Amino acid sequence: MNASRVPGRFAGRDVVVTGAAHGIGRACALRLAAEGARVAVLDRDLAAAQALVPELAGTGHRARAVDVLDDTSVRAAFDGLTVHALVHVVGLALTRGGVEEAGDEEWLADLDLNLLGAVRCARAALPRLREHASSAVVLVSSINALAGLGCEPYAAGKAGLGTLALNLTRTHARYGVRTNVVAPGTVRTRVWDGQPGMPDAWADWYPLGRVGEPEDVAAAAAFLASDDAAWITGHVLPVDGGFLANVR
Ligand SMILES: NC(=O)c1ccc[n+]([C@@H]2O[C@H](COP(=O)([O-])OP(=O)(O)OC[C@H]3O[C@@H](n4cnc5c(N)ncnc54)[C@H](O)[C@@H]3O)[C@@H](O)[C@H]2O)c1
Repeated sequence: MNASRVPGRFAGRDVVVTGAAHGIGRACALRLAAEGARVAVLDRDLAAAQALVPELAGTGHRARAVDVLDDTSVRAAFDGLTVHALVHVVGLALTRGGVEEAGDEEWLADLDLNLLGAVRCARAALPRLREHASSAVVLVSSINALAGLGCEPYAAGKAGLGTLALNLTRTHARYGVRTNVVAPGTVRTRVWDGQPGMPDAWADWYPLGRVGEPEDVAAAAAFLASDDAAWITGHVLPVDGGFLANVR
């Protein structure tokens, strides 16, 4: 389940992880640090972000507050940072409604958090990423972006990340900036708290027989952020235990 770490793969690299205080982002920060990265732990929950820093292997890590809904906050959070890679994890399905159930405000709120949040972080990161011969953006999407699974505003926002990766590849691959997306299936994080039996109640949907762990997603994100993926850009990688093979 916990894919082997690659010691030193990120030695001398500075990586920004957004949404790093909890769940998938936290697992990404732990893994990247274990592979030698200096990690900037960005999150709205500054106390939890600060608490994570001493848990990270190595030195040079820092925590900063950010609200990805606010462009000024995002710019301030990136101020003065060196960025070899951006792993943008922040996101959440805010409404379960669809075209008829969710109103414009609900649609816009989901798009603001899940799509524009990534745009704002990419906007702040790109000038810093262009400073290096080889750099990477990894955006965390969802299987909801790849099949008709509901949570329609969230799915639309997450689907937009795939288009963003295509266009950032078109405009930025020439500067050595690769952009890829990981699209997780159900992952065991606090987002399922309070829902009895979840997330394991959905294990049968997964051909590999279980739901995902945050470390499953972190392993894929670390690969795509690393030079091991040096010739991979503009792609969406499902990290889904085979779920999409089952429903398509
Ligand atoms: N858990 C799942 O089953 C699952 C499945 C598919 C995709 N995802 C995606 O994975 C990502 C991480 O999800 P998770 O389950 O780890 O959630 P989580 O709630 O555990 O972590 C999300 C993190 O983002 C931070 N955050 C939320 N809003 C923010 C904002 N406006 N500005 C800055 N930080 C903010 C939170 O404080 C938290 O640390 C999300 O993009 C989510 O859509 C999760």
